[in-house]
Amino acid sequence: MTCCSFVVLAIIVALACIDCACVHAYKATHYSPTQQVQYLPVSPYGYVGPQPGKSQLFQIVNEWKYLDFEYPTYGQRQKAIANREFIAENNLPLGVDFYKDRIFITTPRWKDGVPASFGYLPYPPKEQSPPIRPYPNWESHGDPYNPDCTKLISVYRTQIDDCNRLWLIDSGIVNATVSLSQVCPPKIVAYDLRTDQAVVHYQFPADQVKQDSLHSNIVVDVHKDRCDDAHAYVTDVWRFGIVVYSLRKNRSWRVTNYNFSPDPVASDFNVFGLNFQWLDGVFGMSLSKAKTPEEERVVYFHPMASFKEFVVSNSLLKDESLWPAKAQDFAKYFIAVGERGVNGQSSTSAIDRNGVMFFTQVHRDDVGCWDTKKPYDAANLHRFLEAEGNSTLIQFPNDLKVDNEPTQSVWVISNRLPVYLYSQLNYEEINFRILKANANDLVQGTVCDPRSYVHPQQHLVPEYLYH
Ligand SMILES: *[C@@H]1O[C@H](CO)[C@@H](O)[C@H](O)[C@H]1NC(C)=O
Ligand SMILES: *[C@@H]1O[C@H](CO)[C@@H](O)[C@H](O)[C@H]1NC(C)=O
Ligand SMILES: *[C@@H]1O[C@H](CO)[C@@H](O)[C@H](O)[C@H]1NC(C)=O
Repeated sequence: MTCCSFVVLAIIVALACIDCACVHAYKATHYSPTQQVQYLPVSPYGYVGPQPGKSQLFQIVNEWKYLDFEYPTYGQRQKAIANREFIAENNLPLGVDFYKDRIFITTPRWKDGVPASFGYLPYPPKEQSPPIRPYPNWESHGDPYNPDCTKLISVYRTQIDDCNRLWLIDSGIVNATVSLSQVCPPKIVAYDLRTDQAVVHYQFPADQVKQDSLHSNIVVDVHKDRCDDAHAYVTDVWRFGIVVYSLRKNRSWRVTNYNFSPDPVASDFNVFGLNFQWLDGVFGMSLSKAKTPEEERVVYFHPMASFKEFVVSNSLLKDESLWPAKAQDFAKYFIAVGERGVNGQSSTSAIDRNGVMFFTQVHRDDVGCWDTKKPYDAANLHRFLEAEGNSTLIQFPNDLKVDNEPTQSVWVISNRLPVYLYSQLNYEEINFRILKANANDLVQGTVCDPRSYVHPQQHLVPEYLYH
């Protein structure tokens, strides 16, 4: 390849490859049609439960060479394979979540052959590589060729709130990595996990969906004593906005800020021997805890293509009257809190009850932490796998959650996404993993431990922020 064509290619890739998907420019030529994947049912024999990972910190809960789905009958599965409704190698997991005895997993429709984009797995696991059971059932999942927008089309990520509800963002986009098609408006759907009934179904109005928007992450701001007053924040990573949905109003509005944009310096990735550019904007979000429903909370956020972390008050996001009318006046209240350093790009993050933030490190195949009461700087950031050097345990951690159990765990899913997009996954190897770790044990003895030293009261969010 000549130098010139490389530059042209790099520009095309830079323009076209954003979020977890490379649109328009990249064709899936890497997958040889002659390559055969073994469609054998996974044998449960010999599986003796979750095994500690090499790190001893993270336990491998489930891992797969390729994904499979649980059909009502073997015949239905064989039929789905025959008519290419299910193409195993096109399925790549993205989001992870946990509630009581179920692990939730999303499988967006990156390509054809994804039979359902959202499902669950039993916990504790009985198999190493269990097939995905569609949630809440098969009937709730739409057909990309004949889309019914009341059904689930392409779910990206989920969030379980303090009111036993699972919220999800459905991008409404199919074929995201091949020839992207917005077949339905993006929507928020929430289920009551005690009954598995849908309790929210909200499609975004057309004026809040831009050309080439991708809505791919969601957090929910609610207090357990006021479950009807929830707000969901949904990031648009390709058009750099946050859509705020109020459950009480059953309305949404779009928040914009210059800090939602990608930083070109942080758009260059070198992982698994691949070099590519992702100009992804606002992506990861996490919320501080509040003791009362009235208490102000801060929303931490970062673009994917960025080494920085930012913060804004939730009261700014929740005030519909400001958007877009007063966007300029309030722009400066979206504040940078610090930097993770070179290669510090992160997809998602979450905060536990002790105020410790956990975040993925996609460029470093690692997970980081920060005690939110300390300054956000190199001395106060820690990475768990770094000490072990060259770990292959977590390859491209793409989603992270902290659960709501009495003893909280950090959940991570890794999926080798860049290899799926720009090279070729080897289906003889483990490609996808779900891992968990006890949140307290993880931070013990690190700078992220809230007990690690007594620090002066920090006011990261200035008092003047918003009233
Ligand atoms: C996805 O893209 C492929 C290749 O362009 C095309 O054959 C297929 O029909 C598309 N699927 C949908 C659901 O549009
Ligand atoms: C919420 O608003 C949408 C239209 O924006 C409407 O279709 C839906 O029925 C409303 N839901 C409720 C619970 O009122
Ligand atoms: C990590 O280990 C692999 C083989 O296990 C090796 O090929 C690679 O060069 C190592 N990378 C670094 C940065 O040491």
